[in-house]
Amino acid sequence: MRVTHRILIATTNRDKLREIRELLGDLPITLLTLDDVAAIAPPEETGLTFADNARLKAEYYAAHAQLPTVAEDSGLVIDALNGEPGVHSARFLRPDATYPERFAEIYRRLDEQPDAPRTARFVCAVTVVAAGAVLFETIGTVEGEIADAPRGSAGFGYDPIFYYPPYGMTLAEVSQDAKLAVAHRGKAFRALAEWLRHSAV
Ligand code: IMP
Repeated sequence: MRVTHRILIATTNRDKLREIRELLGDLPITLLTLDDVAAIAPPEETGLTFADNARLKAEYYAAHAQLPTVAEDSGLVIDALNGEPGVHSARFLRPDATYPERFAEIYRRLDEQPDAPRTARFVCAVTVVAAGAVLFETIGTVEGEIADAPRGSAGFGYDPIFYYPPYGMTLAEVSQDAKLAVAHRGKAFRALAEWLRHSAV
């Protein structure tokens, strides 16, 4: 059953959009962004989990744009910091903080517990809503560690401090393709692409 020819990707984050276009680009579907629809004020992301926020955003934007909508919520979970920055990743420290400032704060907090494990993961929750119904939900994760120091200039956000052991590098030291092959957004959007392929033909 064909769900749609057009789907709204409800994010204003250019870095995420670049990755999402790469991951969904082969589908016979027109990807619209929030730039293609009348301006919609962003909702408050009040959810306690990535999945809550992805659903909240998908329901909100689908209702406002009257289009089938994909929303995602993602972030970095650091075990030694009780899961912070977590759902607050985009606002961690201050909404306008730079990433070097955020990294410094993360290292400051980790230095307070030198014996704690440095394990961390990126999480990406994706939800599809159309006509008021949740049609698809998935979560992608990638396990890694907080690097000894930030390294690399590819990627975005927290990539320079996310060390991925199988590559022996941070996700900011590898190509976009290498990142998407293993990372949270790659996993979640490949599952979405698979679902769209089967429901859209
Ligand atoms: P959201 O827009 O509320 O989902 O916030 C996502 C935030 O998590 C981004 O602004 C980044 O700070 C962080 N984040 C999510 N995915 C990635 C990634 O792939 N690399 C680095 N940081 C990420």
